[in-house]
Amino acid sequence: MDTLDYSGRRCFLKTVGAVGAAVALPNSVDAAPDEIGLHARALKKGMFFGCSVSVPVLRADPRFRAAVLKDCGIVVPENELKWSRVQPAPDRSALNFTFADYIYKFVQQNGLQLRGHTLVWSSGVPAWAQRQMGDMKSATAAAGFLQMHVADVVRAWRGRVVHWDVVNEPVAEDAKSSIWLDKLGEAYIDMAFQVARENDPGALLVLNQNLVEMDDSYQGSLRKKLLLLLERLLKRGVPVDAVGIEAHLSGDLKVAVKEYTSLLREIERMGLKVIVTELDVWDGRMSGSVAERDKAAAQVVKDLLDISFSFKNCLGALAWTLTDLYSWYHETPKKWRQDGEINRPGLLDSNYSRKAMWNAVASAFDAAPVR
Ligand code: G3I
Repeated sequence: MDTLDYSGRRCFLKTVGAVGAAVALPNSVDAAPDEIGLHARALKKGMFFGCSVSVPVLRADPRFRAAVLKDCGIVVPENELKWSRVQPAPDRSALNFTFADYIYKFVQQNGLQLRGHTLVWSSGVPAWAQRQMGDMKSATAAAGFLQMHVADVVRAWRGRVVHWDVVNEPVAEDAKSSIWLDKLGEAYIDMAFQVARENDPGALLVLNQNLVEMDDSYQGSLRKKLLLLLERLLKRGVPVDAVGIEAHLSGDLKVAVKEYTSLLREIERMGLKVIVTELDVWDGRMSGSVAERDKAAAQVVKDLLDISFSFKNCLGALAWTLTDLYSWYHETPKKWRQDGEINRPGLLDSNYSRKAMWNAVASAFDAAPVR
């Protein structure tokens, strides 16, 4: 694992580029596109804007690097700090931050900030760790195993990241799909946050949650579960500082304006911060022309961000893809469009031109109250 070349990814690059080139840009969501980047707009309000980055893309695409520097003040490794990447083998001497270090160097060279993503998640756990956890008979051994991983990574990165996504997506459809919950019950969350705090007291500790934004009964049930979980954690004195609202939005649904607003109100009442951590729009079921779809997707983003940014405890936002060129949706066949057209989840098109969604983010920052 000494090489920085991990392949097999982003195979849509060429196709997407070709499609993007043929698409006329809509001029729909209101903010006048000018030269001020998104992070510069966010800064005026005491906030930040950034995006996810990955080593293969940073290495291969100078236009991507330039786009990041134009619009972002903070970045987050898309996969490079996940367990499977930092410890591919059981021996602790196998801890390997080569990929993440590449991103850290980019951050340092360009005066950016860095988020850490993610310490404990049901996904991204290497097979060897799943096996070891599965074989563990005592809760004490399982707890020690989890705590050691969190301590190893947080200690090694202390002072490098401003936030840690300590626990990712703890509220889920099938609770049993998490080996952590299975072996340790909810206490795994307490342990992860406590060990993270002990090993990097300066980092903002985030509980990062998906699927709590849209007007949909399943997401409604997750909103309720999330609030109940937060209440229990705070009552137990677990050092959670902030909630990450992932915001993988669905373009065919509406933002649950009333319910999402009251979710954020409750989070504010609990004294926690909020960060929009993984903004993008899935357009797999959207109909209409490209221009119509882009406009509707931008509206969903605007609706979500206007609510989020109206709360002064919301610190900023990051996109999970800055450009349509690279996205996890391209790697996930069940997320593809039935008509064979390429997903357009990003703020910039595949030629790095601003889409209506970029304007939506810009105007949401422009409308946000100063922190
Ligand atoms: O790098 C290997 C490559 O060597 C191998 O040939 C190939 C074969 O499938 O896999 C490659 O790794 C993939 C990696 O993405 C890089 O492309 C993994 O299989 C794949 O599981 C991984 O998917 C990531 C996913 O999280 C799971 O970790 C996506 O890129 C990433 O965008 C996605 O991000 C998550 C956030 O972390 C949490 N919130 C939801 C979000 C979207 O699912």
